[in-house]
Amino acid sequence: AAPLALVVGSYNHDYAWRVERAPSAGETLRGDAFRTAPGGKGFNQAVACARQGASTAFVAAIGTDAAGDGARRLAADEGIDAHWQVCGDAATGSACIVVEAGGQNRIIVALGANERLEPAFLRERANLFAAADVLLVQLENGIEATRAALDLAHAHGVLRVLNPAPVHAALDAALLARCDVVTPNESEFALLLERSGGARVDAATLGARDDAELHRLARGLGAASVVVTLGAHGCFVSHADAKLRGDAQPYYRIAAERADVVDTTGAGDAFSGALVAALLRGGDRPLRDAVVHANRCAALSTERRGAAEAMPRYADVTRRFG
Ligand code: RIB
Ligand code: NA
Repeated sequence: AAPLALVVGSYNHDYAWRVERAPSAGETLRGDAFRTAPGGKGFNQAVACARQGASTAFVAAIGTDAAGDGARRLAADEGIDAHWQVCGDAATGSACIVVEAGGQNRIIVALGANERLEPAFLRERANLFAAADVLLVQLENGIEATRAALDLAHAHGVLRVLNPAPVHAALDAALLARCDVVTPNESEFALLLERSGGARVDAATLGARDDAELHRLARGLGAASVVVTLGAHGCFVSHADAKLRGDAQPYYRIAAERADVVDTTGAGDAFSGALVAALLRGGDRPLRDAVVHANRCAALSTERRGAAEAMPRYADVTRRFG
């Protein structure tokens, strides 16, 4: 069978406004465009992974509403093998997204059904974990479900990748230690450092720090490999054991790709989903190759509006980057 990516995570219906700048307190602004679109970090990552050609299974919770019906259709359209826990007493997740003229986004999520995803629902699907080669999770579910997914993957010898977004209080060192690869962005990295008892660091300064220092910081998190996305500063990789991931160096940086940015929503999801797809495609190739590919996918996703809909296809990547 083809290698299988298993994504356990969230589905949200996104309500997105485009504005010149975000409103301040007490202010009402006119937006130039409004759209609703599929999203949720889990679903976005599953779409990114499937569009890169990986055989992809997705487990998530939705409500019995129109947004939930839409989720089923969209997953089917993308060729994703979706397993939905349907909640009679919670709404499908939703997100309010404000995208400023420069492409920067601000998001509020109401997780609804995503928070009800049951560890038991995952355990009943142990066959998926047995069949999977990589598990990808994020933090838009109840922490018990995320922990159960990581434990099931561990029991079946499946590589575990955590995109720690959004970071929240229930994420602890023990959970990070359960992961093979963790993919924070700079602000998530700063929060994780603080959580793990390290010094307070200003997220805005991280990209400009030297690689040896970032490596020292990353080693404090407890995850075997850490891949930090640093926006214009590219992405930074730090390993406890580089050989384990086929890499030659314990730490290194990949430069950012140039992009005509219109909307950064879901760029982190494009990165994590594409990273997993590239790991599956690459077999025994170094992690570095997968990071290069993920970095390209993230850049391409920022050139299109929306989250799940903006995910590039494999052919888009080869057309642009060869
Ligand atoms: O990462 C982008 C996503 O964050 C959006 O699609 C929104 O649903 C929130 O989960
Ligand atoms: Na986008």
